[in-house]
Amino acid sequence: MEPLMSATTTAAKRIGILTSGGDCAGLNAVIRAAVHRATGYGWEVVGIREGTQGLLHRPVQYVPLNLSNVDGAMMRQGGTVLGTTNRGDPFAYPMADGTLKDRSDEIIGGYHELGLDALIGIGGDGSFAILHKLAQKGGFPMVGVPKTIDNDLGMTEVSVGYDTAVAVAVEALDRLQPTAASHQRVMVLEVMGRDAGHIALAAGIAGGADVILIPEIAYSIERIAAKIQEVRASGRNFALVVVSEAVKTLEGTGVKKLLQGGEKRYGGIGDYIGEKIADATGAETRVTVLGHVQRGSMPSPRDRLIASAFGVHAVDLIAEGKFDRMVAWSNRGVIDVPITDAIARYSCVELDSALVRTARGLNISFGD
Ligand code: F6P
Repeated sequence: MEPLMSATTTAAKRIGILTSGGDCAGLNAVIRAAVHRATGYGWEVVGIREGTQGLLHRPVQYVPLNLSNVDGAMMRQGGTVLGTTNRGDPFAYPMADGTLKDRSDEIIGGYHELGLDALIGIGGDGSFAILHKLAQKGGFPMVGVPKTIDNDLGMTEVSVGYDTAVAVAVEALDRLQPTAASHQRVMVLEVMGRDAGHIALAAGIAGGADVILIPEIAYSIERIAAKIQEVRASGRNFALVVVSEAVKTLEGTGVKKLLQGGEKRYGGIGDYIGEKIADATGAETRVTVLGHVQRGSMPSPRDRLIASAFGVHAVDLIAEGKFDRMVAWSNRGVIDVPITDAIARYSCVELDSALVRTARGLNISFGD
């Protein structure tokens, strides 16, 4: 068994940990694992509040983390005990007067004020791009732990949060199926995932969908309607359709909601597809938009395992002096890769992947 290194084998350190970008299930399990491993080394851990925002505040917003406030309950807890933000790039920070200001030096100052020896950032590609830039500019050691329900980060087979999001979407399909059958309806389920169709594809297969629409495959309403007719001809009186939020309309535009302040956010493609199916087939359709329910759930066992393995490995990287790297899942184990490679390689659904072939083998339609 690998011996647990102690304070006698590595110099005492004070490490910081933060969660950045959209939350997901499993973040607390990463924090817990990192605190356990760091404590084993005899190190101190501080949790920085609300991503890089905590380093921007004066006094810096943080909480000391140790085995008395990090317990097994965190493994089960959704969200992040540290808080997070997906706003405010510190290199172009939106100010109250509407201007953008470079506030990166303030964040780097916050890092040094805490007297940290290294930082663990739990984030997605956007957060990593910012953290990498900050670490380069500030000359501080950083390692990354990938999290995103979208599972679109390159260089890792899976990111923390994805498995739980798929489980939530499958549960939704399990609940939609009986009501679809009772009312002879076509049920459309809109799921998240941004430009990658991973959630829709996995949930659609596991949840017995008839049609899965993903941004990577162009659909036609005629092909979807033909599939619904095929289902009817087989004697079944209902159908399940899963739509990924970034699927484009027939005119090629993404469907987004305009919010107060001019911001646009995905949402509405389910209604669009539902109406088109009703027009083309005469079927009664109903639409469910799953939204943030996919993020806030209790983490699945697999997410807890991956999060724990990632948290331990991230601390080990610091012990080994390996920085600017991201922990990653590969071939049943944890590896680490240059963080810049992970940012550069966006991972969408490959058209020749096992799951696309599986879906086709199951006669699920992609509408193509
Ligand atoms: O990237 C994760 C994600 O949940 C996407 O799937 C979704 O489009 C987006 O974040 C929602 O962001 P927000 O929490 O800002 O609404």
